[in-house]
Amino acid sequence: MATTSTPTQFALLSRILHWLMAAMLLAMLFIGVSMVASLGNYHRLVAIHRPLGIMILILAAIRLINRKLTKLPPFPPTMSPQERFAATTSEKLLYVLMFALPLVGWGMLSAGHYPIVMFGPFHLPPILPAIPTLYAVLRKAHTILAYLLFLTFLAHLSAVLFHTLIIRDRLLNRMALWPTPKAAARPVTMTVRPATDDSEVEKPQAGEKIDDSKPKPEG
Ligand code: HEM
Repeated sequence: MATTSTPTQFALLSRILHWLMAAMLLAMLFIGVSMVASLGNYHRLVAIHRPLGIMILILAAIRLINRKLTKLPPFPPTMSPQERFAATTSEKLLYVLMFALPLVGWGMLSAGHYPIVMFGPFHLPPILPAIPTLYAVLRKAHTILAYLLFLTFLAHLSAVLFHTLIIRDRLLNRMALWPTPKAAARPVTMTVRPATDDSEVEKPQAGEKIDDSKPKPEG
């Protein structure tokens, strides 16, 4: 049961990290795809891609610790057990991918014996031995994980939009950057109109002559 100490929103740091990382991850997916598709901008894009990816790795660690330390708002009553299971599973998958993608990127460059340049002269050390076949495997894994991230993100977005726009249970308020004290915990109120008298009105059947002498229903 919701009590006054039950939060209706995620903690402020969680909400800030959520939107910041959503923007960074989407940017990374598009930068990654543009990078491999464009010859002209490859070096400029890869120079952004590497440090941004490592930044995501650091933020993912902060986000995980923050999540373990803060109280989460309960799921709204409009979510079925199956939806709750799907939401929890996809969230876990997103966390795994937020760690796996940058680590695989870093490992892949290490295995390919490439310098892992961050800013100017600042390089990261290799985390794996230089083995060409390992590079080939990790390069493929980086692409597959990126597609998986994109698909999980789409599923997550669709579920949130479905709840917010169709079911209208204010699910999105849980993650809003501004305070919405009653957020999604507020039960959805629906106005139930009494059955219209339509069903009780005797309708003339096809071909039946309307008898004006019958008393008409009131209203
Ligand atoms: C969340 C973090 C990351 C995301 C979402 C991401 C996403 C991507 C995507 C979508 C591609 C294009 C894949 C393809 O179409 O084949 C790519 C390529 C690449 N990524 Fe990442 N990446 C991330 C982190 C990193 C990190 C941390 C590094 C290195 C430190 C890295 C290094 C690379 C390199 C070098 C390529 C291009 C390889 C080539 O030229 O063939 N990535 N990444």
